[in-house]
Amino acid sequence: MARFAGKVALVTGGASGIGRAAAIRFAQEGATVFVADLNLAGAEAVVAEIGGGAHAVAVDIADAASNRAMVDAVIAGAGRLDIAFLNAGYYGAAQGLDTVDEALFDRLIAINLKGTFNGIKAVQPVIAQGGAVVVTASAAGVIGHPDNPAYSAAKHGIVGLVKSCVTAFAEKGARINAICPGGVLTPLIGVADVAIIPPGDLARVPLRGMGSAQHVAEVALWLASPEAGFVNGQAQVLDAALLSTFAPVMLPVGP
Ligand SMILES: NC(=O)c1ccc[n+]([C@@H]2O[C@H](COP(=O)([O-])OP(=O)(O)OC[C@H]3O[C@@H](n4cnc5c(N)ncnc54)[C@H](O)[C@@H]3O)[C@@H](O)[C@H]2O)c1
Repeated sequence: MARFAGKVALVTGGASGIGRAAAIRFAQEGATVFVADLNLAGAEAVVAEIGGGAHAVAVDIADAASNRAMVDAVIAGAGRLDIAFLNAGYYGAAQGLDTVDEALFDRLIAINLKGTFNGIKAVQPVIAQGGAVVVTASAAGVIGHPDNPAYSAAKHGIVGLVKSCVTAFAEKGARINAICPGGVLTPLIGVADVAIIPPGDLARVPLRGMGSAQHVAEVALWLASPEAGFVNGQAQVLDAALLSTFAPVMLPVGP
């Protein structure tokens, strides 16, 4: 089945983890894929893994001009843009409120929030009629994350950004949604990427367990597909019920 035959898909953060899994799966489903990443060698490796019909693009999402150049490269290379999976992100060395400083806060906001804004701004003028944008936020974009408040603030910002951009994309006949994964086994948390398998063979994730990059990628593909045509402006949580069943631990707050 080639759900995305004839479609052109852009995936940021495509060199690794969730983006890599999505780039491979979009390509398997027939899309012409542009794999964009700060790590160009990594993007080229994913293009080689795809084995034809894909392209690597260098981008620093924190830089507006770099995002525009990335989208220009897609239009120059393929003539259209149907799907943008704006997924690149940075977690950093998690630091709580006691140790996070202004420089780290700015960096996490610049990559995760401003970077996503830059990507949305760059793709909106050229997104095709019937197109779809999927943006990677996080479960930390809908609940607080005391270990990394700057990251959580950026991901909350992404959810507001996506909801605020629905009208601008609707005017182009396109949709925009966010995904909010819980814990995912990717290089972001020090886990090596694994082979892509038929989606029907993905194991059910145990309650509150960690998902795989491909679990997240499959949801991104669905949101980008016509089958999700009624879904717009949402922040879709995918977390094996982590947020809906979590039993809070009562901590002493003293003094
Ligand atoms: N892994 C998790 O547990 C988890 C959970 C929720 C959300 N997320 C989000 O999922 C997305 C993908 O993360 P992942 O887990 O696959 O991590 P990953 O580290 O495997 O991949 C992230 C990719 O983004 C790229 N990148 C980083 N900064 C960039 C920049 N300025 N410009 C362009 N590319 C840049 C990296 O080079 C890398 O290839 C991120 O937005 C992350 O915040 C991850």
